[in-house]
Amino acid sequence: MTGVVVVGSINADQVTTVARHPLPGETLIGTSITVLPGGKGANQAVAAAQLGARVSMVGAVGLDALASSATAILESAQVDLSSVRAVDGPTGLALITVAADGENTIVVIPGANAAVDAGVVGQSAGLIAGAAVVVLQGEIPAAGSAAAARLTRGRLVLNLAPVIELDPATVAAADPLIVNEHEAALLLAQLTPGTAPPATDAEAVARLREWGVASVVLTRGALGAIVSDAEGTETVASPVVEAVDSSGAGDAFVGAVSARLAAGDTLREAARLAVRVGAFAVQSRGTQPSYPHEGDSLPEVRPDAATDSA
Ligand code: RIB
Ligand code: NA
Repeated sequence: MTGVVVVGSINADQVTTVARHPLPGETLIGTSITVLPGGKGANQAVAAAQLGARVSMVGAVGLDALASSATAILESAQVDLSSVRAVDGPTGLALITVAADGENTIVVIPGANAAVDAGVVGQSAGLIAGAAVVVLQGEIPAAGSAAAARLTRGRLVLNLAPVIELDPATVAAADPLIVNEHEAALLLAQLTPGTAPPATDAEAVARLREWGVASVVLTRGALGAIVSDAEGTETVASPVVEAVDSSGAGDAFVGAVSARLAAGDTLREAARLAVRVGAFAVQSRGTQPSYPHEGDSLPEVRPDAATDSA
């Protein structure tokens, strides 16, 4: 089994920059607008490919002008797109607003991504079964992700962003599950209804492991990540960088973890590299255009930053 197969979303991102985010009912004058390739699945595929992994993408775009914008960087990163269909209807579209402090809001209209169901995924059964690492997110139908998880023989990286209602068997197959603190809390509410929300990130990780996830990575933005598997639980510190645009930094992290797992790294080694890849990405505009290539120098974690057991 070799390489990475990403089964997931492909979007065109319409990115607007503003001094600050508008309040409900408020009108603001923005400062720029651009259309860039995006979608969590495509972002992760590009991040992994640019770090040297052999990557194939299973997904869908529409039969419209946005499709070629959406796949431009997938193509230049040499991601295999032979399992990406062109379907009736619009390409997935994300409306992204980035404020001067680098924080973003995102509204996603799935469009063609809604076609990536069990039937479409099943047509790539051989590709998925042959992958060392299969990567899923929450932007295609749950049935498509469930089918991909059932076909996976290698390692399943499940980035449940956004949190959708997945078959518990899909969540249980994750190794690792990668979520941020909000996603972890939402997922725990689904898996263990009636329980109190986790009080800390470490508690969220412990409860997801107790529920039955073999390994969990909880991403914490500038604070790095918590990695937990059968070897134990540890915090991984992030480099300190100036944030320009944090959109897609989580996807850069997931793509980097997937590339390094496919190359034979342990989950901890993969996460230590991935926090640096995520930090690289927040330093410039956009999602895919801000991702590093193999050989780029990544920001370093300060030697005195805390990296211990959580
Ligand atoms: O994670 C960032 C991504 O979320 C954007 O590229 C946008 O397309 C949405 O899917
Ligand atoms: Na960025």
